[in-house]
Amino acid sequence: MEKVELEALLQSLSVPEKVHQLVQLNGNFFSVKEEIATGPSAKIGMDSSVVHQVGSILNTFGAKNLKELQKRYMEQHEHHIPMLFMADIINGYRTVFPISLALGCSFDEALVKRTAQIAAQEASVSGIHVTFSPMVDVVRDARWGRVMESYGEDTYLNCLFAKAMVEGYQQEEHNVFACVKHFAGYGAPLGGREYNTVELGERSLREHYLPSYKAAVDAGCHLVMTSFNTIDGIPATANRWLLDDVLRKEWGFQGTVISDHSAVKELIPHGVAKDEKEAAKLAFTAGCDIDMMTSIYANHIEELLAEGSISMAQLDDACRRVLALKNELGLFENPYRFADEAKEKQVQLCKEYRDFACEVVTKTCVLLQNNNQVLPLAKDKNIALVGPYAQERGLYGMWSFTTDPNTVVTLEEGFLSIAKDAHIYTAQGASFLDRAEDIPFFGKVDATLTTDNREQLCQEAIEAATKSDVIICALGEHAQQSGEGGARASLTISDGQMYLLKEMRKLGKPVIVLLFSGRPLQVDEIEANCDALLQCWFPGIEGGNGIAKLIYGEANPSGRLVMSFPYRVGQCPIFYNHLNTGRPALTSTHSQRFTSRYIDTPNGPQHCFGYGLSYSEFIYENITLDHATMKKDEKLHVLVDVTNVSDTAGIETVQLYLRDVCASIARPVKELKGVQKVNLAPHEKKTVTFTIREDMLRFVNRDMKYVSEPGEFIIYIGKNSEDTLSTNFTLV
Ligand code: GLC
Repeated sequence: MEKVELEALLQSLSVPEKVHQLVQLNGNFFSVKEEIATGPSAKIGMDSSVVHQVGSILNTFGAKNLKELQKRYMEQHEHHIPMLFMADIINGYRTVFPISLALGCSFDEALVKRTAQIAAQEASVSGIHVTFSPMVDVVRDARWGRVMESYGEDTYLNCLFAKAMVEGYQQEEHNVFACVKHFAGYGAPLGGREYNTVELGERSLREHYLPSYKAAVDAGCHLVMTSFNTIDGIPATANRWLLDDVLRKEWGFQGTVISDHSAVKELIPHGVAKDEKEAAKLAFTAGCDIDMMTSIYANHIEELLAEGSISMAQLDDACRRVLALKNELGLFENPYRFADEAKEKQVQLCKEYRDFACEVVTKTCVLLQNNNQVLPLAKDKNIALVGPYAQERGLYGMWSFTTDPNTVVTLEEGFLSIAKDAHIYTAQGASFLDRAEDIPFFGKVDATLTTDNREQLCQEAIEAATKSDVIICALGEHAQQSGEGGARASLTISDGQMYLLKEMRKLGKPVIVLLFSGRPLQVDEIEANCDALLQCWFPGIEGGNGIAKLIYGEANPSGRLVMSFPYRVGQCPIFYNHLNTGRPALTSTHSQRFTSRYIDTPNGPQHCFGYGLSYSEFIYENITLDHATMKKDEKLHVLVDVTNVSDTAGIETVQLYLRDVCASIARPVKELKGVQKVNLAPHEKKTVTFTIREDMLRFVNRDMKYVSEPGEFIIYIGKNSEDTLSTNFTLV
């Protein structure tokens, strides 16, 4: 529709009709059974006549279903404005990939972009227009359940993946529009506790947390979702500085801002709105266009307009953005867009997509321990595959409710499909949880999560192990111990699972642990009781196949951690790009007691950012610089030789870090500024070159300006954030 026509449509709408475009409900309200529709609308206090006018719905799926819904909706709508269909498609739609925290471990934006392209293809033919993705909240605290949705602790990587995901979703012919979230700083809740307060100064917020959202905006995402949390005492959903000064005026964002689920109403318990009417006023005037899943805009915007608290121009601006979004999607010309039942059957879960999903698994699992090269396994070894994940189909994490569990390849199935000449003896061995009440479950959950016959289960595993050459323990958190509402104050696996592992260890056979989780866990006791540990995250529908390929060496592990693994939960938040402090434990002149340290735990993580083992062995030599000084308009080149000294071809993730030794603001001890994935044949050496530019040296100064300052810089290059070669240069 031409702009002039769109404006005419806007001006033809009544005030209630304009407000209806700013309301989003979920699909339950549109069930064909009237009594269900009435139930939810009564529950959130919305007149059922409004329900059928709302501008968008979320999390309703299927080409047939959405075409039928759209048809009914438009027929009864006075102006026949099409409805928007939005959904949480975070790590795949039907071909479900590893969770985002795993995808980040690929350090490969092209790979991650491809996952978004496939998700867009599959979701668009099922009638979805917008995905509430990418989630690019920088995270530093493994206690928070939603670290599983993020791309880790590093700002540079989150920016890379924000761009890759937005482009992946939006560039294809069968695309969906991206909605970056959660704006802003949701990943830094105090104590790692879900929905908790975020205390960040503006400078730190701008330096570490805002860049990834801006990368998504610069990549052209069409929507931004406000976060639940307060920032320095002001909820993001009512934060005019954030939503207007920064997002619109500084960044030039012209798309639509949508609240998170019922976040407008939560302004009341936050204590900034005395009632729903004030909540509506605060959110709307701050710049939140769409109210997700409350009746507050529907019930109060018209009244605010009438009393002059908001202007018709403001209402028109918000409504215009939503109509423009529908217009950019082409919905006025074709309200059914790409919804196509035949295409659903043709593209979803096709072999190409599944094969790629399997490749992604092999590139996102992280090998944390491999004593005496116990891995890869020979295919003729008889295996005892024990643990709650041995035959589990729930390998796809919390944000994958469009997954059909029957499309998941379990570990047992994956191993059986590769190890044709060996026996795979499977036993559950232990339950997921020690106590059922451990988790407030979301949706239907399998009842066998706990057990009262630990000994019996373990005995079955011992019998399986007795017949085997190698023991593989498939252990971990249950999928609902992470994700939204999945904050934990501990990072351990259940006592029952640790008991199983120790009983397996006593049998004197090689023990390999496959660890499934949505977060870094405390793994020291696990590693002390096994020979090899592979961090599998939640690997998605091809988990069984991808992990089996890694265990048997058909793929060589290349994943590297994007989030530090603490020794103890008490170290959280823990992250590699920390400040040095005035009393650094290793170099302070103060006595050991009076330095920045714990007396009962190392300062550093058990496994650091960027860490991961391979079946190959890479060594780094000869770091050199082409100049020792650099002017702001010049570039430097740093070179390093990387050699694969093993007999196995592999991919090395060469990491470039920089440190600004002294500046007007204390600077991190190192920051990731570049990554190169290098394929190396056995005994092959390559010289890897990074270019250093002045913009890589910038930071947010006390005036909130993004600047570099002259002085000494250290360059670190290596296989992770701790094992590096270094050299220096001076910016003049
Ligand atoms: C949830 C999440 C958000 C999601 C939204 C819609 O509460 O915070 O990430 O997109 O609601 O499901």
